[in-house]
Amino acid sequence: TGMSEVFGDRVIIKTKNPKFKDFPPAMFVKGFLQDYEERVKNFKVYEDDVWLIGFPRSGTTLMQEIIWLILNDYDVEKAKSADTYNRAQWFDFFNVLHKIQGVDADYMDKMPRPRIFKTHLPVQFLPDQIWTVKPKMIHIHRDVKDVAISLYHLRKNSFHDDVGTMEEHFEQILNDRTWYTPYREHVLNYQRIPDYPNILYLTYEELLADKAGVIKQTAKFLNTPITEEQVQKLIDHSKFEKMQKNKTTNMQHYHELFNQLSNDNKPTDNFIRKGIVGDHKNAMSEETIKRFDEWWAQRTTLKPGYNK
Ligand code: A3P
Repeated sequence: TGMSEVFGDRVIIKTKNPKFKDFPPAMFVKGFLQDYEERVKNFKVYEDDVWLIGFPRSGTTLMQEIIWLILNDYDVEKAKSADTYNRAQWFDFFNVLHKIQGVDADYMDKMPRPRIFKTHLPVQFLPDQIWTVKPKMIHIHRDVKDVAISLYHLRKNSFHDDVGTMEEHFEQILNDRTWYTPYREHVLNYQRIPDYPNILYLTYEELLADKAGVIKQTAKFLNTPITEEQVQKLIDHSKFEKMQKNKTTNMQHYHELFNQLSNDNKPTDNFIRKGIVGDHKNAMSEETIKRFDEWWAQRTTLKPGYNK
């Protein structure tokens, strides 16, 4: 039985999957997952799918682009023919994406294989078949302080959400009261899935510090050969400035849609916004940094809750 509790534009949902019955509930945008939980739960999974997972603003779009290129002959020209979130399909908006895109509701079932999915879903909400079919998963996470800053800008300046002050937004993250929270469990529970053979863990920080290394590691994980020249091609294509200018990676169509829906004339921020490590130092007080660090350190005491 799915339990849900509503908070403004957000709703807290508990998973129906018995394997995860002791997991904390997670928070979603209202109308986003609850009506479609069954469809997500029963989604057909193939062994050659690749699932890229990360909390929003952890560098998932950058990794989507890299993974898609690795599995598509490093063809940067072809990459420009469609939006990143349609090639390495953004899974979460299961219910609305097909309407926006004007394709069949079951288009995800029919995508050419190997399919690539990107999701922000917490582990307990993944389709049931993940646990029997065991496709490859790539998990990325990022310093929560930079995630917090980035998410604030996305909500306020891209989606024009009534997000409140930055301090209020920080409180929402620390108290598990914004999209996809709880953050700590989101990261932690993926890091301790029992007996999962096919998962690669990455961080945004290591990706920026050693892009060549992470690209090679990812290609190897996906059993795809890669030459030095191809590595350089990907590094070049995925440079911050290039991805920001590239309409297909900067979520241009999505933003146009949001502009129409929000019906205001405020300019919309780039989805690919700043792209640096440590941006929180420009916007957080010493005291807030300390609070976040202590809060993050406490994750070690959180119970895993998996039922074997
Ligand atoms: P900032 O807001 O700090 O700039 P996601 O795609 O998971 O939502 O993550 C978005 C974050 O990744 C944003 O962070 C965005 O700018 C950053 N990002 C996207 N593409 C990037 C790139 N090519 N290089 C560096 N950072 C990138």
